[in-house]
Amino acid sequence: MGGADGPNRCTALTALGGGGASSTIPSQTGSDDEPGGASLASGMERRPARVAMIGAGQLARMTHQAAVDLGVDLTVLAESAYDSAVLGGAPFRLGSPSSLPDLLSAAELSDVVTFDHELVPGAHLRELERSGHRLQPSPAALQFAQDKGRAREAFRRAELPVPEFARVRSVEEVEQFGERHGWPVVLKSAQGGYDGRGVHVIDDAAQASPLLASGSAAAREWVAEAFVNVAAELTILLARTSAGHTAVYPAIQTVQRDGVLRHLLMPAPLPDAAVDEARELAVTIGRAIGATGILAVEMFLDPDGRVLVNELALRPHNSGHATIEACETSQFEQHLRAVLNWPLGATTLRSAAATVNVIGEPDMVDPASRLPMALAVPGAHVHLYRKAPRPGRKLGHVTALGSDPLDALERAQAAAELLTCR
Ligand SMILES: Nc1ncnc2c1ncn2[C@@H]1O[C@H](COP(=O)(O)OP(=O)(O)OP(=O)(O)O)[C@@H](O)[C@H]1O
Ligand SMILES: [Mg+2]
Repeated sequence: MGGADGPNRCTALTALGGGGASSTIPSQTGSDDEPGGASLASGMERRPARVAMIGAGQLARMTHQAAVDLGVDLTVLAESAYDSAVLGGAPFRLGSPSSLPDLLSAAELSDVVTFDHELVPGAHLRELERSGHRLQPSPAALQFAQDKGRAREAFRRAELPVPEFARVRSVEEVEQFGERHGWPVVLKSAQGGYDGRGVHVIDDAAQASPLLASGSAAAREWVAEAFVNVAAELTILLARTSAGHTAVYPAIQTVQRDGVLRHLLMPAPLPDAAVDEARELAVTIGRAIGATGILAVEMFLDPDGRVLVNELALRPHNSGHATIEACETSQFEQHLRAVLNWPLGATTLRSAAATVNVIGEPDMVDPASRLPMALAVPGAHVHLYRKAPRPGRKLGHVTALGSDPLDALERAQAAAELLTCR
């Protein structure tokens, strides 16, 4: 019996690890000097891996849960002690994502800095990197999630399919774009938008005028896009390490209303050809921009079955919430594995699933007060973010598993409605 746990057994078990992720791309860069590389794997390093996450919303809250399981030391940079991740028990530093000293103070607690949102000035990110901090994703990759114009231009240069678009600064330029590509036109702020804020469908150039004159200094660049007759929206979620290992999740169909994700279906009940093309596009984009961590590629499917790339997020993403219950590895655990350059987990689907977002409505009760009613729905997995109810705010989500995603949707929807009914 002696020696069963000794080095030989360890070597044999290490060999069992093999390639790790379900779909891999050959190594692109070395990783021995990285926090998840040889030093920790050797067992010589005793302290846990330390990750700082900029932002403390619900994505950080759920990443914290995964960090607890892995024994990873996650600290979040929170703007308030009432932020969702802080209320979920995540260790935190108080500060603003737009303050360089605050970013530095969070970074100094970590081996790796990562993000719960992309609203961090690019100059600060580059300064963090210059001062020796390891950012995952890198500022160079993150810029494609921070600036829709830059992303669109890069995709067009790489001959990836995108809606017709142009950067615009004046009403005249919007007018010209509309004349060339037809109305309505989708006018988007290049930076700073989320949940449909900053996305405007306009019927004529006159409607552009107040929009172009509005906005904070950070949101003064605009992109005009042809309005796509969207047959369906889908997200391809993948994880990528700095060594280039990639694991792709089954495709997710997303359904938005007023620019906000209402529910998602996993796996996307969409034609195989479109899903295969979308997966290929996402892997190509991940490699081209050097994405690390979770990459979400949002796409449109047009009525002719063409896939068009919409936008990117380089962090855990709302469309991936079903991975918690439905996949071998949740997107939150996977994000930590990927930013630490650790072996990626399997992305295999355990069951079809659907997730419904719990979104604030005017005069609503706090969904927390309805929790017991929602929990009475068999198979409903309720996640509440402890955010104060406000119209349009994401307050939680419900996931249900089922024989197919539409069957799961019925149950998730029933529980979500119980949480929001007056
Ligand atoms: N060119 C377009 N044609 C038709 N609909 C569009 C177009 N662009 C965006 N939309 C709709 O608006 C939604 C929000 O757009 P987009 O994803 O660009 O903005 P966002 O606010 O940054 O989103 P997110 O909440 O994902 O951060 C899309 O999911 C889609 O439903
Ligand atoms: Mg979007």
